[in-house]
Amino acid sequence: MIPPKPASRADRVSFWRYVRLFRQDILSAQPERLYRARMAEFRTPFFHSFLCNDPALIRHVLNEDPMAFPKSARIREGLSPLLGRSIFVTNGSIWARQRRIIDPAFEQSRVKGAFPAMRAAALAARARVGARAGSVIEVEEETSHAAADVIFRTLFSIPIEDEIAWQVFGAFRDYQRSQPLLNIGALLPLPQWLPRFRKRRTRAAARVIRGLITRLTEARAEAIAAGDAPDDLATRIMTTPDPETGRGFTPAEMVDQIAIFFLAGHETSASALAWALWLLAAFPEAQARVAAEAAGAGDFDDFAVLARLPFTRDVFRETLRLYPPVPMMVREATRAGRFRDRPVPEGAQIVLSPWHMHRHERIWDNPDGFDPDRWSRRENARSAREGFLPFSQGPRVCPGAGFAMAEGTLMLAALVGAFAFSLPDGPPPVPVAHLTVRAAAGIPLRVSRRKSA
Ligand code: HEM
Repeated sequence: MIPPKPASRADRVSFWRYVRLFRQDILSAQPERLYRARMAEFRTPFFHSFLCNDPALIRHVLNEDPMAFPKSARIREGLSPLLGRSIFVTNGSIWARQRRIIDPAFEQSRVKGAFPAMRAAALAARARVGARAGSVIEVEEETSHAAADVIFRTLFSIPIEDEIAWQVFGAFRDYQRSQPLLNIGALLPLPQWLPRFRKRRTRAAARVIRGLITRLTEARAEAIAAGDAPDDLATRIMTTPDPETGRGFTPAEMVDQIAIFFLAGHETSASALAWALWLLAAFPEAQARVAAEAAGAGDFDDFAVLARLPFTRDVFRETLRLYPPVPMMVREATRAGRFRDRPVPEGAQIVLSPWHMHRHERIWDNPDGFDPDRWSRRENARSAREGFLPFSQGPRVCPGAGFAMAEGTLMLAALVGAFAFSLPDGPPPVPVAHLTVRAAAGIPLRVSRRKSA
């Protein structure tokens, strides 16, 4: 069985048809040849972009000369009502300072420190799913709930059921329905002024979220001043000075950063976990292997348990390959240059597509197949090095990558160890790019309690 892949459009379509397709879903708006091409140039009356599928070009843009390819104003524009000047949208020296303060909070030792909070969220997710065992559940809803819980417990030491946390979660749902993180405006082949007509609802939801986050950060600033703040990610980030200037974030700056931690950290993990559960339901042999590993991992009492879940981790990796939560990233060329012998003008949009790289026919063997064992085969190393970038790469690589891998592995083991997931009647889910890669009509799965659990 081949896991669901969106349909591709015909190679040549009219401009307005292209725009219409794009608005529906950017994945199915792309031509089939992008799974083979090294680069594709798109030119419209308003927009000139280059989609780069060449590992050397991706390295050039993300690793070797990243300052020449910053995030574009189009991206900031769409996300600023929610994210202000958060690390996700800033560039240059402002971004570099933010990164110096944030990076230490996500070092391996800190991820280890966050493990008890992650485990508590995994056990709570297991109890919620357990209450509905024997029925068909909407797993995207469950994984969103679980991932939001992980973020609140690790950042602020509060469960998602906390009153403010629950309100933030609800307001984010409203927000995400009206404004994608993968800001479609940044990719859309339309004049730049068009996407600016943002819906009033987006701005209103952003205001609510920022108001709630402000209450959380102000309360935390007071607890830090009083010396009784818990040792979690929020306290870490709020008390870490920039090693170069000695100055840390002000409470106001923290609001921008918390907003992106929540947005980037919970939607992405929720998307990957939901697809992983669907894949395991569709491939029962792989599911049995995850369940067997989980059975040997006890009650996930400490961080070291993750080392005993290598196959589960490979299932999560293979899910990130087939359904990268962030399917495309956009940068802007700040000076003219040449890519694969073609002139790239200043101001061109440079699109990097984990979606296409992860299924590229020149890079992967059996690109559309689900094969978690590929991650333990030596011949896969080159494909992984050249064609796997779910967390991006270079200086702007996702700081939460280690955190997300730990969370994904633990959640999968906790859920699949206790429950068997199977496909209900009905068509398979269709991947579309919303805020992250989601299923057009959700991911319903039948869940039943495992006899051994
Ligand atoms: C499976 C889960 C995740 C995936 C696939 C993912 C993917 C990504 C990608 C692709 C980027 C780069 C976007 C771009 O350059 O346009 C990114 C950036 C970022 N991610 Fe993640 N992420 C995940 C989880 C997390 C978590 C758990 C956190 C934090 C709690 C986080 C925080 C961030 C931040 C702050 C950035 C901006 C970094 C910068 O621009 O310097 N992410 N993530």
